[in-house]
Amino acid sequence: MWVWLLSTRLMSRCVKCQFVNPSVTLLLFEYLNRSFSLHRNHTLKDMENIFQLVRNVIPPLTGKRHKGQDGRIGIVGGCREYTGAPYFAAITALKVGADLSHVFCTKDAATVIKSYSPELIVHPVLDSPNAVHEVDKWLPRLHSVVIGPGLGRDEALLENAKAIIEKSKLKGIPIIIDADGLWLISQQPSLIQGYQRAILTPNYMEFSRLYEAMLRDPVDSSDHHGCVLRLSQALGNLTVVQKGERDLISDGEKVLVCSHEGSSRRCGGQGDLLSGSLGVLAHWAFLAGAEKTNGQNPFLVAAFGACSLTRQCNNQAFQKFGRSMTASDMVSEVGTAFSKLFET
Ligand SMILES: *[C@@H]1O[C@H](CO)[C@@H](O)[C@H](O)[C@H]1NC(C)=O
Ligand SMILES: *[C@@H]1O[C@H](CO)[C@@H](O)[C@H](O)[C@H]1NC(C)=O
Ligand SMILES: *[C@@H]1O[C@H](CO)[C@@H](O)[C@H](O)[C@H]1NC(C)=O
Repeated sequence: MWVWLLSTRLMSRCVKCQFVNPSVTLLLFEYLNRSFSLHRNHTLKDMENIFQLVRNVIPPLTGKRHKGQDGRIGIVGGCREYTGAPYFAAITALKVGADLSHVFCTKDAATVIKSYSPELIVHPVLDSPNAVHEVDKWLPRLHSVVIGPGLGRDEALLENAKAIIEKSKLKGIPIIIDADGLWLISQQPSLIQGYQRAILTPNYMEFSRLYEAMLRDPVDSSDHHGCVLRLSQALGNLTVVQKGERDLISDGEKVLVCSHEGSSRRCGGQGDLLSGSLGVLAHWAFLAGAEKTNGQNPFLVAAFGACSLTRQCNNQAFQKFGRSMTASDMVSEVGTAFSKLFET
């Protein structure tokens, strides 16, 4: 842990000051090797820069900005059975720095989610007959949408989610798809195929299902990098984040590996922290554009940022709570984890 922190700090400075003493270099490289690598073209310069690229897209806090400018994020999900997932995604988006976080869920989930937090705006519309219209009204005011946390597999809700994805595409907003949203995509890949402002965040099971749907082949477990790359390409080069012991991120051209130190403990809800933070970072990176990301795909940079942040929250919460760590403990770490990684 100590080594890790030291090297993160050094990394950002060394890039700028070009001063590296030999023992520090070793640490630095070791960290880089452990933390991420680029498939194929393995240039150290690229790797050193990625944290800096994430920092570049983060809007500065100044008094001149008005409410809403740093991000209004919509979470589509939450039904009778699942109320935790949309809450974790939405509260994480706020803690990462979004100004407003909207949850679009079913009527009976809404009161429950509101009672978890007075900070969220909760719309009890997802199971209403005019759900799509109700969400569409808000879309012009939203900067990104996260589809899937706690969505469930009810036919009518999936139909509504599908129509909301279509409306969001028409508006050109970044779409993050997770959980049962991914189940929907594996049934109807054409729904998102070719929309390069989409980021999919499958775990290993969800990844296999998508991969088989798209490539008509089982996943080749000896070539995880290649599989992530091929799935992204098959979907038209949208960004795919395969969550796992190491997160693999691809945009069809590159594969980034994020193995930033977390802990051996994974808890339910960790994926919702990832999708919520990605909602914000995708908006920031998209807004900043390739100019700020040094020509790198902004969505790759956003995904790398969100993966590192989630792992850092896991690491910090684990230090405090060990085995008893839960997603709520991770949410409490978002602020300090963010400063450690991106505001050093
Ligand atoms: C890091 O990786 C590069 C190439 O992948 C290798 O040459 C180098 O020895 C590694 N450094 C450490 C400290 O493991
Ligand atoms: C890596 O990319 C650089 C330019 O970005 C290029 O000059 C070099 O040949 C590439 N190396 C490999 C192994 O593809
Ligand atoms: C996806 O990216 C690959 C690698 O850069 C490229 O060869 C391919 O043409 C791209 N496909 C689309 C649909 O943009």
